[in-house]
Amino acid sequence: MHYWNEIIRSLTDKRDLSDEQLKLLLDSDAADGLLFAQADAVRKRIYGTDVYIRGLIEYTNYCKNNCCYCGIRRDNCNIKRYRLTKEEILSCCKEGCALGYRTFVLQGGEDPFYTDDKICEIVSAVRGLYPDCAITLSLGEKTKESYQAYFDAGANRYLLRHETADAAHYRKLHPEEMSLEIRKRCLFDLKEIGYQVGAGFMVGSPHQTTDCLISDLRFLQELSPDMIGIGPFLRHKDTPFRDHPDGSLALTLRLIAILRLMFPHALIPATTALGTIHPEGREMGLRAGANVVMPNLSPVSVRKLYSLYDNKICTGEESAQCRVCLEQRVKNAGYQIVTDIGNVRR
Ligand code: SAM
Ligand code: FES
Repeated sequence: MHYWNEIIRSLTDKRDLSDEQLKLLLDSDAADGLLFAQADAVRKRIYGTDVYIRGLIEYTNYCKNNCCYCGIRRDNCNIKRYRLTKEEILSCCKEGCALGYRTFVLQGGEDPFYTDDKICEIVSAVRGLYPDCAITLSLGEKTKESYQAYFDAGANRYLLRHETADAAHYRKLHPEEMSLEIRKRCLFDLKEIGYQVGAGFMVGSPHQTTDCLISDLRFLQELSPDMIGIGPFLRHKDTPFRDHPDGSLALTLRLIAILRLMFPHALIPATTALGTIHPEGREMGLRAGANVVMPNLSPVSVRKLYSLYDNKICTGEESAQCRVCLEQRVKNAGYQIVTDIGNVRR
């Protein structure tokens, strides 16, 4: 007990640990109680009990990539593909605004149908109608010029999980044509342009080791992102990883707490994947240091089609239902949803 106290104190004070100490903390559940309590204390010192909401609009499930873990990968012929029009996206924003959302997250597969001009047109339209909102994009890997164009059109945040910072592990999760170097370059380009940047990774993805997780934490220290999104890997029946076990709830919570202590100011979501692996996963995530929830704002007609993994939650609910549901869940966990956008850089 004394030893764990020391480690957690040192992590809190220095926002860092040696690789050996991190390994001990990651591989044992002995310190979980202390760790979660400390992460919650740090989060409350900085953010009080506030939880930010981001309205997620999943605007296309077409993807030119073939990541081995992802249900909307190019080679999956078993899903019906869809694309939302600009008008449909704007109507999601309108509904979201009425429900109190001040951040819209446009997320999709890498879909060449949406050329840079089309993306800029959509972003400008949202920016024109909602000048005070934050616009977050999560469209995958693009050139620096494209990222700059979206930024100039009014986007201010970008989510791009690095997925794994270990090059050999990256190779096992992705086909030959993708590379960790490009992924990292994108993240640094985004930062240079002035976006608030979100990185992150799946916990328990196939072939992941504790050393991979330590590399993830080291990479995040190098990048210093504003947002860090992590969630358990969950298998999808139509992917090459269909027979791999799901990631662990406990390890995901442990990592959320470690991230809160390493990056006290970061925006850390309690993700949909966390809510899928356990009915109260998002509440547990909040208690372990997370401070963002991202309810779905996509039209119900397409929700089931954005199937990254099996049994994804919130695919039958209307946006208003998700909003009320999450309000209650956040309250039950001991926190409250706030609707301001947070520290957006413009
Ligand atoms: N195309 C964009 C990109 O690559 O960043 C955004 C969409 S991508 C589907 C969003 C995230 O879903 C990925 O970064 C990945 O971490 C997560 N994801 C995909 N398949 C998953 C799975 N089977 N289990 C858990 N998370 C998954
Ligand atoms: Fe969608 Fe609970 S958040 S139903």
